[in-house]
Amino acid sequence: MQKFEWNDSLSTGVPMIDSQHRELIAATNEIGEAIERGNGVNAIKKLLVFLKFYAEWHFGNEETCAAKHQCPMAGVNQAAHKKFIETFGKLHDQYRQSEASEEVARKIYDELCEWLVSHILLIDTQIGACIKESLAQQI
Ligand SMILES: [Fe+2]
Repeated sequence: MQKFEWNDSLSTGVPMIDSQHRELIAATNEIGEAIERGNGVNAIKKLLVFLKFYAEWHFGNEETCAAKHQCPMAGVNQAAHKKFIETFGKLHDQYRQSEASEEVARKIYDELCEWLVSHILLIDTQIGACIKESLAQQI
């Protein structure tokens, strides 16, 4: 399974957001590794729970920052987070109902990889640029 590598194009320029994104990527990679090892039913369960809470906590931080700095993309970002929580929640339910099927775990992993890259590249980088600009004006 291909490992999700961090690269500079994913940087928002805001250290707190970047470090939280790195944590999300690390947790996603751990899910990929657990699936690959094939013995990861419990590991995947634990990681999914961690990821759910971590993602929600991170989204809250990002949304508070975006609102505080009046970023034009704040609403779009918030809506995307809400949609992610719904999608992830549905997949998580499917995983539980399937009694931890590897196929559903892979679906979750693929969805996470795709969502994280597209969301960070298309939205979070713009949020980061707005926060940086707003902070620079305060100096
Ligand atoms: Fe975001």
